[in-house]
Amino acid sequence: MTFITSDPGQGLRSRKRSRNTTASVHDCQVDLSKNKLITYILHSTKVYTCEVKTNYIQQKMIEAGIIGGTGYTGLELIRLLVRHPQVTISVVTSRRYKGKKVSDVNPHLFPFIELDYEDVDTKEIADRSDIVFVAVPHGSAMEYVPALRERGARVIDLSADYRLKRADYELVYKREHKDKEERNAVYGLTELHPEVADATLVANPGCYPTGAILAVAPLVKGGMVKQVVFDSKSGISGAGAEPSETSHFPNLAENIIPYQVTAHRHVAEMRMELPVNVSFTPHVIPTIRGILTTAHVFLNENMSKTHEELEAMYTQFYAGKRFIRLRKGLPSLGAVRGTNFCDIGFEIEEESNRIVVISTIDNLVKGGSGQAIQNMNVMFGLDEGEGLWFPGLVP
Ligand SMILES: NC(=O)c1ccc[n+]([C@@H]2O[C@H](COP(=O)([O-])OP(=O)(O)OC[C@H]3O[C@@H](n4cnc5c(N)ncnc54)[C@H](OP(=O)(O)O)[C@@H]3O)[C@@H](O)[C@H]2O)c1
Repeated sequence: MTFITSDPGQGLRSRKRSRNTTASVHDCQVDLSKNKLITYILHSTKVYTCEVKTNYIQQKMIEAGIIGGTGYTGLELIRLLVRHPQVTISVVTSRRYKGKKVSDVNPHLFPFIELDYEDVDTKEIADRSDIVFVAVPHGSAMEYVPALRERGARVIDLSADYRLKRADYELVYKREHKDKEERNAVYGLTELHPEVADATLVANPGCYPTGAILAVAPLVKGGMVKQVVFDSKSGISGAGAEPSETSHFPNLAENIIPYQVTAHRHVAEMRMELPVNVSFTPHVIPTIRGILTTAHVFLNENMSKTHEELEAMYTQFYAGKRFIRLRKGLPSLGAVRGTNFCDIGFEIEEESNRIVVISTIDNLVKGGSGQAIQNMNVMFGLDEGEGLWFPGLVP
């Protein structure tokens, strides 16, 4: 019996098992979405299954649709996807600019995208896309996701509509969920949810929860934590492209604005992922991109650790997670701008059994569109860094 796999790095490889074995390939299936070749081999009267996972099956480009292509996350999806080696953008929607060239409305995208904006037609979008990114406000995504799913499209929703269980969503977002089905979307915090690989609907996490949860997950999963207080500072792009009183230049410049200090909706996601006592207070600062989160972590009794022990714990927990950068010192917003990295650093305050963990992300990349693409890569069996592996923008 001979197995042959084609691998351009190493040429054709074949392995003979036994000269006396008579076997033939009975059937063969290629799962392009997972880069998987399944061969059914007939030997005597038995059929054996042989699965080969390979990056070298010739694959057509992934066609990606974007609903909400004028918003900050939609534009960031376009900016990143036009450079993605395995993706072509098939459709981009805008109700306001339908019929206009995407690159006329957004000159920074010229000449990288040829498409015109289209109106939202879920049937058209599902038929023309292998994956659909829904980048619209919460409450609107649920108007499109059921129809997209019913037509078989795989969906990554950047809004909050599918992050929580329906009952929790209605409580937290104070609105009725219009989707008749509980869809059990996979929560797309890529580093913590490998089941993204098999998901058909991914609920991309909120920007604040991404930085907050990643900062403390090793400690919480290690059973060390009694309580966490997250204090986050966000750039104004986190609020989307619509201008507001807060984003008005004289109000925000040289200012720091706390808001929803005890009742921000993102705390529900943090509590869902971190089963400990969690509090959260956000602030807006006069930067465009980025979230710096200070996590005050209060440990259970007798849980104190040295800096070296904690470093070893974080290193082990995030082994192989390329977008988590554990810093020797403390992270800064400037080092992650424009990137999909989450930088993490910490200090220990022994007197109060407190660890202060700092994380930084770019809210539009790791906190939104970059993480959505990271999830798409995992769903399609690609390297998770495809199209996302580049350094930050400094200064
Ligand atoms: N900004 C961030 O840092 C960030 C990070 C993570 C997640 N998110 C989430 O991602 C989603 C998009 O955020 P954003 O900041 O990109 O928002 P945004 O800047 O306000 O853009 C919203 C987009 O959705 C479209 N849109 C609005 N209502 C719609 C509707 N009913 N049907 C179809 N399209 C509609 C708008 O275009 P037209 O009006 O022209 O159609 C626009 O392109 C939100 O749910 C947000 O919470 C944002």
